[in-house]
Amino acid sequence: MNDLKTLVEQAKSAFDLAVTPADLENAKAQFLGKSGRVTELMKGMVALPVDEKKLRGAAINLAKQAIENSLNERRQALADLELQAQLHAEALDVTLPGRQRGQGGLHPVSLTLERIESIFGSMGFEVAQGPEIESDWFNFTALNTPEDHPARSMHDTFYVEGGTAQAPNLLRTHTSPMQIRHAVQHVKRHRQAHGEPSDAALYNGDMPEIRVIAPGRTYRVDSDATHSPMFHQCEGLWVGENVSFKDLKFVFTDFCRTFFESDDLVLRFRPSFFPFTEPSAEIDIQFPSGPLAGRWLEVAGSGQVHPNVIRNMGLDPERYIGFAFGMGPDRLTMLRYGVNDLRLFFDGDIRFLSQFR
Ligand code: DAH
Repeated sequence: MNDLKTLVEQAKSAFDLAVTPADLENAKAQFLGKSGRVTELMKGMVALPVDEKKLRGAAINLAKQAIENSLNERRQALADLELQAQLHAEALDVTLPGRQRGQGGLHPVSLTLERIESIFGSMGFEVAQGPEIESDWFNFTALNTPEDHPARSMHDTFYVEGGTAQAPNLLRTHTSPMQIRHAVQHVKRHRQAHGEPSDAALYNGDMPEIRVIAPGRTYRVDSDATHSPMFHQCEGLWVGENVSFKDLKFVFTDFCRTFFESDDLVLRFRPSFFPFTEPSAEIDIQFPSGPLAGRWLEVAGSGQVHPNVIRNMGLDPERYIGFAFGMGPDRLTMLRYGVNDLRLFFDGDIRFLSQFR
């Protein structure tokens, strides 16, 4: 029976030599396969007498079992090794610092709007928001720009059907409609608070002043390096009993000098035309130094609010008077940061935008 003991040992060392499952299957075939060594031993029993056959058969079976056991052990060992290798390959180092989330920042135009709001806020102006889809009435007619007025052709935009004071029908071409919307609400609230009928004639009683800015998006059919079909404006309105062009000059000069942090900034009020103001002026600024020094740069339209517009606010122009202006925050942002192409603001390129964080 020594041969069986040797066979079992040989099988075990053959299995132990196998380093892959395929090696192991080959080794198994050598011992347990159809023409393997164990099968050969079985065949060799044919010639033995019956009682010897029994003993020999039992011994071969034991040896076969021992071989199968060591095969299974080796199988398990190889599977364990494979699992270890896999775990090692897929190991995560949980002590590595995490990948940071990029820190966002405000859009440069938003930074400008915040700046505008805080400067005008410090001068007692409220901030009002209005709809970007506006009606013909608020965008044009109420602002003294009737349907056949040539000034409308400079405000080409997108129209939809409808078009009453209640039904919006165009993308607003400027923030000026907010003058009417805000003033009407202001007057209405004041009259309600004082128990006055709100459908009465133009108001000429006492009333706190209207002092408001209205920033927001505006739209026109226009596109080049300094014009975008969507752009921003910020309207300003100050209406009271004694508000004059002098106040406009003071407020706007103060605003520009604060905005650009330059006390020597010079302003020029250049006569112009807008249907909703009379007289009207474009406001130009000039920097005392820096790359833009010496050039006049247009930053806003302005003027004394036209009496027809005061009427459309529900106020009596014999008592109420004021000024308005409309400026371009995109332009102010370009000037402040030295950006020469407006489209950069709206392309959404993170390499550009992240420079303003
Ligand atoms: N709404 C004008 C425009 O978009 C700008 C403007 C001019 C606004 C004069 C005003 C103003 O309030 O008084 O071109």
